Amino acid sequence: MAKLRTAFFCTECGHETIRWQGRCPGCGAWNTLAEEPVSRKRPSAGREARRGERAVPVRLAEVVGPETSRWRTGLDEFDFVLGGGVVPGSLVLIGGEPGIGKSTLLLQVAAGLEAAGHRTLYVSGEESPAQVRLRAERLGPGAGEVSFLSETDLDAVLRRSEELRPAALFVDSIQTVYTSELEGAPGNVGQVRECAARLQRYAKEQNVAVFLVGHVTKGGTVAGPKTLEHIVDTVLYFEGTGSLDHRVLRATKNRFGGVDEIGVFRMTAGGLVPVPNPSELFLRERTQGVSGAAVVATIEGTRPLLVEVQALCTKGSYGAPQRVTTGFDRQRLALLLAVLEKRAGLAFGQLDVFLNVVGGVRLVEPAADLAVVAALGSSVFDREVPGDAVFLGEVGLGGELRAVGQVERRLGEAARMGFRRAYVPQRAVPEHVPGELEVVALPDVRTLMEWLFR
Ligand code: TYD
Ligand code: MG
Repeated sequence: MAKLRTAFFCTECGHETIRWQGRCPGCGAWNTLAEEPVSRKRPSAGREARRGERAVPVRLAEVVGPETSRWRTGLDEFDFVLGGGVVPGSLVLIGGEPGIGKSTLLLQVAAGLEAAGHRTLYVSGEESPAQVRLRAERLGPGAGEVSFLSETDLDAVLRRSEELRPAALFVDSIQTVYTSELEGAPGNVGQVRECAARLQRYAKEQNVAVFLVGHVTKGGTVAGPKTLEHIVDTVLYFEGTGSLDHRVLRATKNRFGGVDEIGVFRMTAGGLVPVPNPSELFLRERTQGVSGAAVVATIEGTRPLLVEVQALCTKGSYGAPQRVTTGFDRQRLALLLAVLEKRAGLAFGQLDVFLNVVGGVRLVEPAADLAVVAALGSSVFDREVPGDAVFLGEVGLGGELRAVGQVERRLGEAARMGFRRAYVPQRAVPEHVPGELEVVALPDVRTLMEWLFR
């Protein structure tokens, strides 16, 4: 028997080293290296060498690109996040927590492709054919056309796929497939990486669109999609807030389109339904008549989006005051609190501060600062922010408001959603104000506090 060769793989980034180290040389994370066998059988190496001989240089202008054509899935929000549809020959990873709806989404995508005349093969190592059929029935007649294979051996999957020649192959999930060319259980870093690499080769050689499901567990040690991000062309994350029925699909890497686009879906009894107008959804359950809420006109990818920010500032019991955020950077909150203390005279020293962005949205752009500041002020003074007001602007350390990009598009969305007033930095007032919006131009946070609460 051949002696097992082992190596150490980082569970965060997948970096491979020969010796154990406390810190991963790839991504700098501590205590993430795990030992895994890597004994490869010879044939694989031979194939590799032959492949090398085959390649010949081509002039770039003569390269036939897969992105010349895209396939529509009929799920508009999904196509939109991909950058206009499925790219043949691409490898797409869909990450998300168990139960969020990844299998449902991909089965719908498969059904949509079938309806558009593209053959599909759905491979599951997680669910039985009967289970998947039940799901297919809930999703409507289209899903019945999808070919299903219950298999976890990747070599067998690829053989079947080569027979069937589908346009799109779905592997649910990458953590359940394995290749016998590698020792080690399915789901370990080595297996996950090797299987993904082989599927990438398969996608490119056969011009098949391959979709991988990757489970991400909260703080779990499972070889997560993180290690795969380098291998695949596109990374999509499917997220939700648990209690709510809507889900956000987000591209974090895309070789064939933009990143940070989002698509919003609602989970219903008949599967996922695209929500073409996310602002409406995020604002539907607006907290009206309560202090501590403000709406920001943000931009997600290329789309304007209106989202509610909620703040709750309460007297802390004892010890260091708490700073808890959901959907917003904690450091940024600390900075904004300091600016409000110093420049507008608000005192947060004795207060616990909770900040929540409604609907599972993550606000990362500085334009959200002004809405956060307005929500904080509103909670501290216990005075409501006008319900028809929208906020946008970056806050500087001097308390000054800084201009942000795409103001007209943001205001356009606000006007369309029925907002009547927009608070914007003085320097960001656009020449053309859309709709019937009244624009309040502000120099700094102190002025905002006076306008709103005094
Ligand atoms: P699933 O796609 O299995 O999640 P994942 O593959 O990410 O683990 O679906 C998760 C949940 O969605 C499941 O609890 C049942 C629910 N669901 C619906 O509400 N409606 C439907 O039509 C389907 C198919 C599932
Ligand atoms: Mg699943």
